[in-house]
Amino acid sequence: MKYILFLLLPVFVSAQSSFITQMEYSSQLYKNPRGIGCQHCHGEKGEGRLVAKYIHKKEQKSFQGPQINNLDFAKFYKALNMRKKGMPRYFLTKKEIQALYFYLQSMDKEEVQQ
Ligand code: HEC
Repeated sequence: MKYILFLLLPVFVSAQSSFITQMEYSSQLYKNPRGIGCQHCHGEKGEGRLVAKYIHKKEQKSFQGPQINNLDFAKFYKALNMRKKGMPRYFLTKKEIQALYFYLQSMDKEEVQQ
């Protein structure tokens, strides 16, 4: 009987350590989505981010990622499945898009001040 416990213990321990919460998974996917992390253009919380300012034809321009933590799921999903100007294409699964949405919804919704 003692033997069985001894044999099962490592399985139990490794099952415990491989468990990550939905929040940990979603936050990691947001920062490392098989490509450049969303936070570089949309901010840590999806609040929007000014990426660069530059001069084009003597005009001051800026490149920024819009706020994305205030969209409904349909809009969010659609945006990730079409070509966007200035944004890389990711080819994420529906589950991954849901995880990203979950992450952004749990953030506070303050828009970045620029
Ligand atoms: C290189 C910069 C960049 C990265 C990285 C990036 N985006 Fe974007 N994203 C943009 C820009 C710029 C737009 C606005 C495009 C437009 O107006 O057509 C945008 C638009 C969006 C929109 C639509 C917003 C709206 O109001 O319709 C969503 C949703 C979005 N991005 C989500 C993401 C997610 C999720 C990731 C990571 C998987 C990501 N983006 C990574 C630059 C980026």
